[in-house]
Amino acid sequence: MKTLNASLLVTAVAMAICASAPTAHAASTQPWTDSNKASVQRTELLLKAMTLEEKLLLLFGYASGDQLAQVDSTIIPGVNAKEVAAKVIPGSAGYIPGIPRLGIPAQYQADASIGVRNPYLERTSLPSSLATAASWDPRVTEAGGKMIGLEARLSGFNVMLAGGINLAREPLNGRNFEYTGEDPLLAAEMGAGLIRGVQSNNIISTVKHYLINAQETGRTLVSAQISEPALRMSDALAFELAIEKSSPGSVMCSYNRINDVYACQNDKWQNQVLKRDWGYKGYVMSDWGAVHSTVQDANGGLDQQSGFPFDKVPYFAKPLRDAVDDGSVPLARIDDMARRILWAMFDKGVVDHPVKTGPIDYAAHAQVSQAAAEQSLVLLKNDAGVLPLSPTAAPKRVAIIGSYADKAVLAGGGSAVVTPIGGNAVPGLGPGGWLTQVWQPSSPMKALQKQLPATQFAFDAGTHVDAAAKAAAAADVAIVFVHQWTAESLDAPSLSLDGNQDAIVSAVAKANPNTVVVVESGGAVLMPWHKDVKGILAAFYPGAAGGEAIARLLTGAVNPSGRLPLTFPASTDQLVRPKIGGKSEGPLFTVRYTEGAAVGYKWFDLHGHKPLYAFGHGLSYTSFELGGLQASQAKAQMTVKFSVKNTGHREGASVGQVYIRAPQSARWEAPRRLVGFGKLALKPGQTGTSAVNVDPRLLATFDESTGEWVIAPGMYEVQLGAGSDDIRATAKLALVGRRFTSAQLRR
Ligand code: BGC
Repeated sequence: MKTLNASLLVTAVAMAICASAPTAHAASTQPWTDSNKASVQRTELLLKAMTLEEKLLLLFGYASGDQLAQVDSTIIPGVNAKEVAAKVIPGSAGYIPGIPRLGIPAQYQADASIGVRNPYLERTSLPSSLATAASWDPRVTEAGGKMIGLEARLSGFNVMLAGGINLAREPLNGRNFEYTGEDPLLAAEMGAGLIRGVQSNNIISTVKHYLINAQETGRTLVSAQISEPALRMSDALAFELAIEKSSPGSVMCSYNRINDVYACQNDKWQNQVLKRDWGYKGYVMSDWGAVHSTVQDANGGLDQQSGFPFDKVPYFAKPLRDAVDDGSVPLARIDDMARRILWAMFDKGVVDHPVKTGPIDYAAHAQVSQAAAEQSLVLLKNDAGVLPLSPTAAPKRVAIIGSYADKAVLAGGGSAVVTPIGGNAVPGLGPGGWLTQVWQPSSPMKALQKQLPATQFAFDAGTHVDAAAKAAAAADVAIVFVHQWTAESLDAPSLSLDGNQDAIVSAVAKANPNTVVVVESGGAVLMPWHKDVKGILAAFYPGAAGGEAIARLLTGAVNPSGRLPLTFPASTDQLVRPKIGGKSEGPLFTVRYTEGAAVGYKWFDLHGHKPLYAFGHGLSYTSFELGGLQASQAKAQMTVKFSVKNTGHREGASVGQVYIRAPQSARWEAPRRLVGFGKLALKPGQTGTSAVNVDPRLLATFDESTGEWVIAPGMYEVQLGAGSDDIRATAKLALVGRRFTSAQLRR
């Protein structure tokens, strides 16, 4: 993308934003501007005052100005594309014009998985969503979302394309870093935290990408084949729960097909499941280039076409008007589409609180990002107390090896990448263009130096095995940084680290018995050297202050408390599909998700595979005793209580994980499911307690023939663990059989 002069950009952004707060006069002639009225009522009042043309205007979104300026101005009657192009915030994801006559503000869309994304605007980046999911603490993602939402408001954006919660069903999926792990409950809780945080700024967030967009390879060609019950109990359940827990204004439908029907025209999953069964009131917006027709998409439940001209045809512009005229899309459906968008705009505060550009406190926001990373990075291995590198008994010489650790930490690529404050620390890497690798300018080595002022640090680039081994041999401790860059639109070719990084680690481990590895990756990677090193820290993509967070965790200034949100396999043979199916280009193809709802650790449990590091695993510099497990059921609500005692000498946080094992007769997809968790920060000697209310859907299977959830009667085992492979206590609970629908749970 070409760059713009910064002051021109600020002017353009300011001009583009139509800040039209309602006036007292307006409230009498325009009753929908009265913020004391309920969102539903305001929406109905406004709908009545709108012409058909005005309603249609809300249903069609434009991409950034550069592309739009080339579009024919007659695609939508009465709208000049070139004039619209002038109003789009440069570099932003999208724009929908406002209707000043009625006080409807324009919608300014920006990507926001981990921060406000715009190639021209430097903004704060959180750690990857997978990283913050590893905090197992929705307060962390909520604080992060709040920060993103505030930066969005102050940058002029009011619709954020955030909240990626697709399950990490395919460990090779290049976008797993944008998602919140492999378990539906964890994914929903952590994603919902982010969405609540974003929307607390009176703006809209999406939840995305609906549904079962599990791979990037051929994402517009693939049909995800899976049975309805399996989908309801896995990927769809994550959406169902996240929507309940955060009420996102919008759901973004995905590129892929679901059982042969494109997600954005999928009557079953949009109309029947999302809107009918789950009672969703907001609107469905398409992913950029995910629309394939006018009539099928509109009638199949899509409410707003996004980012024209990403779709080759402006389906929801003039063709939609024509479809209304010839009756193939009913007028009532147009009302429903507009109603959903307006409801979200009222309900989330977009109408009453117009966004306005202003200064951003980047120093404070870097702290939010750092705190998130410090809660999230996972200490996988710590033999012989190699960590922490304590300042009181600091090593004399430390070798830092590889991955530009003298300057930066890595970020994931694609539409989630945030332009770092201070710019890309290692420019020129990766495929280029929108897939240029971005390195956040936060140096782990400099931060370590700050923590250990008496230690001598030496850096080796980690490109040559001999040089790396030599550097390691000359030090008391060697810290090797390895990385795997993943990005939207590409899947990882394998779970192995690129290039000679494995050989470098092995050589370093041979040269120095005190070797620690820091892994920066989009998700799980293989570690053929794991037995040869003493310490391993999974840093994922740790965000704008990732270097500081890594240093504080390695030196014990912060006690690690992250737990894996996905399984790290021991080998590729353990995966359901060792290779991603299909091709990026060519004919349509199908991937059969034969594992059904047995995703991640459930698959490993089912087949008795022993992973390298299990779902839920993570170490601390203190020790915890988990106990006091009590499970009870009253009025169909199952509750599990437990206690945790910090039995070590340092303050630290433990994540109590509650799993349930079902009797055979329940016919679960796998022996166990995570049904709840609680993170407790405890001082040495302190005991804390947690209570978890178990959602009944987590105890049930889905009966496609009646649309009901079914809990089988029988004896269930409740397990309390410090990880899915580290169960510390069990209890039995007899459950009575029960059937219910999602709708009944909402009453
Ligand atoms: C991505 C979405 C993103 C959109 C707009 C698409 O390529 O799949 O996640 O929100 O672009 O940038």
